[in-house]
Amino acid sequence: MEPLNNKQLSTPKLYLLTGLILLAVGLLFGISGAIQYLVPDYLKEHFSFEKIRPLHVTSILFWIILGSTGGVVSYLQQYNNQKIKYPFLLKIQYLIFSITILTILIAYIFGFFGGREYWEFPPILALPIAIGWILFIINFISSVNSFRNQPVYIWMWMTGLVFFLFTFIESYLWIFPYFKNNIINDMTIQWKSAGSMVGAWNMLIYGSSIFLMEKISSNKKHGHSIVAFALYFTGLFNLLFNWGHHIYTLPTYQYIKHISYAVSMTEIILFSRIIWLWKDSVTTAKKHFHYAAYRFLLAADLWIFLTLLLAILMSIPAINIYTHGTHITVAHAMGSTIGINSFLLLAICFDILHDTCIPIAVNIKWLNRGYWITNISLFIFWISLIIAGILKAKWQMSASPEPFSVMMLQLRPFFGLFFIAGTIMSIGFYLILYPLIKNQIVCYINQSKIK
Ligand code: HEM
Repeated sequence: MEPLNNKQLSTPKLYLLTGLILLAVGLLFGISGAIQYLVPDYLKEHFSFEKIRPLHVTSILFWIILGSTGGVVSYLQQYNNQKIKYPFLLKIQYLIFSITILTILIAYIFGFFGGREYWEFPPILALPIAIGWILFIINFISSVNSFRNQPVYIWMWMTGLVFFLFTFIESYLWIFPYFKNNIINDMTIQWKSAGSMVGAWNMLIYGSSIFLMEKISSNKKHGHSIVAFALYFTGLFNLLFNWGHHIYTLPTYQYIKHISYAVSMTEIILFSRIIWLWKDSVTTAKKHFHYAAYRFLLAADLWIFLTLLLAILMSIPAINIYTHGTHITVAHAMGSTIGINSFLLLAICFDILHDTCIPIAVNIKWLNRGYWITNISLFIFWISLIIAGILKAKWQMSASPEPFSVMMLQLRPFFGLFFIAGTIMSIGFYLILYPLIKNQIVCYINQSKIK
């Protein structure tokens, strides 16, 4: 048996552990969804695609939300060198979130829906999530004390926290007849809130990643640098305005579309920065590659590059008309939530959890294999969705389209590839998750034995 140390499980670590378990569960639902692409009747009676998709997407979204929360709280405590102001509120928030998430998943299993895309659960369950988030904001603001001369990550966390609440509430405006009765306004707000919400959680995750990068490089200057703040404002600008590419196909005001297109193009600045710094990161990679957290940061860097390339192409109105409603959108959503959000969160998890009770180093060989398997298969997974999307886009825009069933037959080989690559990618993820989850659970079981 591995030796135990005294690094115990704390509330922020519990957020990360719960997030990791949700990711493990979400992957299983993802594989079932991929099988249903190929065999639509698979598990149809009790777990049709209408149930599997929300089960998958909700588990994954809450992995991102709980992972971001655990990361922000852990790093805020490290930055302040003291505990969060109200540890009790953090525990209540955890309880609210975990009970609500469990209720949501059970509601889906028994066929209770009523919500909109991404939040398909009965709308009443959004209330505890919003209340938990408000507790988080109160705890965060009380712990920061002053916002003067703070590094960029404090601003990113604050912005992400406030905008997440704002966009979450916005995504529920449809319950009021004033918004619901005007279909164009309703859809504009719906798609806008989904786009901006991603920007909000990106702020939380990017903030934690910058803190982590400072920690790895032992360079405290980065968080105060002009480049870091320029990136923050570009991110904020995009959070506020870049959602416009979600509504190109709606008959709304032209100027909204023009502004959003121009804003999307500012992302090129981020894009060129990544290329510019890539050379540097390759040389530093040699120094830090042994460090699991650094390795996931590096993988995310590559996926930021690929995702931005796809996003910039999708923001061009003439291309967007084709890609809208195809698997290219799914590739964009999954590429960014896996390659960027999940990899950055795994880097954060490895940094925070690597020595809870049992050092991760004990399982490093499996971790290495998992890392390469996940990255290579993710690329194939992503490409297969893009090709399926291109074929569907051609069919959608064709003047004399073939029957739907003929088009779906053409997509089958790519759905097959998607399923195989997705299953292998999940195996890779499980190899990565196993030591992380096992260490925490062993820690929890043995907590009473450790001083
Ligand atoms: C970390 C891992 C994963 C993340 C973060 C993730 C994220 C997502 C997201 C955000 C969506 C919604 C996409 C949209 O609405 O456009 C989605 C849908 C989906 N995912 Fe995943 N996913 C993951 C792993 C997987 C795996 C391994 C598989 C299959 C083997 C899979 C299969 C699916 C399927 C079939 C859908 C439904 C797409 C549709 O509606 O047509 N996912 N996933």
